[in-house]
Amino acid sequence: MTSTDSSGAGTGAQKPAAKDPWDLPDISGLVVGVLGGTGDQGRGLAYRLARAGQKVIIGSRAAERARSAADELGHGVEGADNAECARRSDIVIVAVPWDGHAKTLEALREELRGKLVVDCVNPLGFDKKGAYALKPEEGSAAEQAAALLPDSRVTAAFHHLSAVLLQDETVEEIDTDVMVLGETRADTDLVQALAARIPGMRGVFAGRLRNAHQVESLVANLISANRRYKAHAGLRLTDV
Ligand SMILES: NC(=O)c1ccc[n+]([C@@H]2O[C@H](COP(=O)([O-])OP(=O)(O)OC[C@H]3O[C@@H](n4cnc5c(N)ncnc54)[C@H](OP(=O)(O)O)[C@@H]3O)[C@@H](O)[C@H]2O)c1
Repeated sequence: MTSTDSSGAGTGAQKPAAKDPWDLPDISGLVVGVLGGTGDQGRGLAYRLARAGQKVIIGSRAAERARSAADELGHGVEGADNAECARRSDIVIVAVPWDGHAKTLEALREELRGKLVVDCVNPLGFDKKGAYALKPEEGSAAEQAAALLPDSRVTAAFHHLSAVLLQDETVEEIDTDVMVLGETRADTDLVQALAARIPGMRGVFAGRLRNAHQVESLVANLISANRRYKAHAGLRLTDV
C-alpha cells in the first residue's frame, strides 16, 4: 500500500488534506432571527438576507412594531417579539444597542439555548471628539453574550457594516468582508456562510471571542473615516 491511499493506512501514511476554508455549509434552509430587528442595523441585515432568499424573522420588544417593520421590508420577513423570534430561529443575530445588550440576552437565555447566536454589537461612546470604544467588563460585547448564554453557541460578526448601504434598495452588492469570530470552526463556518449569502459580502474567520474587543472597537475608527470622507466605509482583508 502506498502513501497515496486515502485511508492513510500502511507505511508512509499522509495527514488528511487540510479542509478547504471556503468549503462552507449550505445554510439556505435555516431560519435567521434578528433581535432588535426594527433598528437600522437589524432592518438592513434582515432585508439583505431575505432578499437573498433566507427565511428571516425580526424581533422587537413589541411584537406589533416588529410586524409593521417586517411588512415594510417585504421578501417574506416576519415580525415577532424578541422571545418568539429567538424561539423560532436557528441562527439569532443580536442587533440591539449596547445599553440593552445584557438585559436582552439575560431575559432570553432559555429561548436561545442551543442556538447559534451572532453578536454584532459595538460598545461605543460618543463625545465632542467623536466615537470611542468602551471597555466592557467581560472584554467585549461578544464575551458578555457568551458569559450570559452558557448554553448557546455564541459567535460575533457583522460589526463593520453600514446600515445605510444595507437598507438602500438601489445598492446591488455590499462590497465588504465580515470578520467572524467564535469558539468552534463548525459555528464560524455557518456564520461565514451566512455572510456569503449577501452578494458582494464575504465572511472571513478572524479568531476566538477573546479577540472580539478590537473588532468591535474598530467601528470607532470607521465612524471617524465616515465623518471625514462623507462615506460608508467597509473593510477588505487582502491576500486572503
Ligand atoms: N447602525 C449601524 O450601522 C451598525 C453597524 C454595525 C453594528 N451595529 C450594532 O448593531 C446594534 C444595533 O444598532 P442600530 O443602529 O440598529 O441601533 P438602534 O436602531 O438604536 O436599536 C436597534 C433596536 O433595538 C431595540 N432597542 C433599543 N433600545 C433597547 C434596549 N435598551 N433594550 C433592548 N432593545 C432595545 C429597538 O427595537 P424595539 O424598540 O423595537 O425593541 C431598536 O429598534 C448596535 O449594538 C450597534 O453597535 C450597528
